Amino acid sequence: MALVVPSILSADFTRLGEQVAEAQSGGADRLQIDVMDGRFVPNITVGPLVVEAVRRATTLPLEAHLMIVEPERYVADFAKAGADIIIVHQEASPHLHRTVEEIKRLGRRAGVAINPATPLASLQEILNDIDLVLCMTVDPGFGGQQFISGVLPKISRLRAMIEQHGAHCDLEVDGGIHAETAPLVVKAGANVLVAGSAVYGDKDGVAAGISRLRQAIGTPSE
Ligand code: DX5
Repeated sequence: MALVVPSILSADFTRLGEQVAEAQSGGADRLQIDVMDGRFVPNITVGPLVVEAVRRATTLPLEAHLMIVEPERYVADFAKAGADIIIVHQEASPHLHRTVEEIKRLGRRAGVAINPATPLASLQEILNDIDLVLCMTVDPGFGGQQFISGVLPKISRLRAMIEQHGAHCDLEVDGGIHAETAPLVVKAGANVLVAGSAVYGDKDGVAAGISRLRQAIGTPSE
C-alpha cells in the first residue's frame, strides 16, 4: 500500500499548526517540509526553525527535502530540528556517500532526490546505502506544477533497479501528484507519494484531499 505524504509547501502558513494537525487527523503517513535556498532552485522557503515548529505540532514522521546547495552543511541542523528523514539532492552532493553516512550517523533516515533529467545511473553506487529515493516528477521549486509524464518510464526503471540491487529503499515521487496521476506512478512502482496542492488545495479540506488520493490508488482512508 502506497504511503501518502502531504507537503506543507501549499499549506496556509498563517495557520500552519492547524494545517499540520489536519494532515495528521486526515490520515497522512508522514509530512514533508520543502526547504529551498533560492540557489539550487529559483525559490526560497523555510529552514530548521519551521521544522522545529512542525515537530511541536505533530507526532508524524517528518521528511526534510533539502532543495539547497551544500546540503551537507545543514544536515545536523535539520536532524536537531526534528527531521526523521533527510533528503538531499544528488545534483547538489559531490560527496554523496559521506553526506548519507553523516545523516545516518545522526540517527536519521537518508534519502536521495533526483531531478527529472538526472539519470538513474547516478544512484547505482548509493542505492543500497539509503532509505529512500525521491524521483522528482516536476522540476523542483514550486507547488502546483504540471506532472511530467515522461518520468513514468523512469519510475518503472528505478523500481527494476531497486529490485536488481536487492535494495530496500522506498521509491518516493513528488510533484504534480493528484487523483489522476497517483495511480499512474503507483502502477509504475512508486510506494510513497508526496502531494502538496492536491492535499492543501482540496476544496473540501485536507482530509478530503488525502482521502481522494487514497481512493485513487485503491486504498480508501478508514
Ligand atoms: C518541489 C516541491 C513540490 C512539492 C509538491 O517543487 O517538492 O514538488 O513538494 O508540490 P505539488 O504536489 O503541489 O506539485
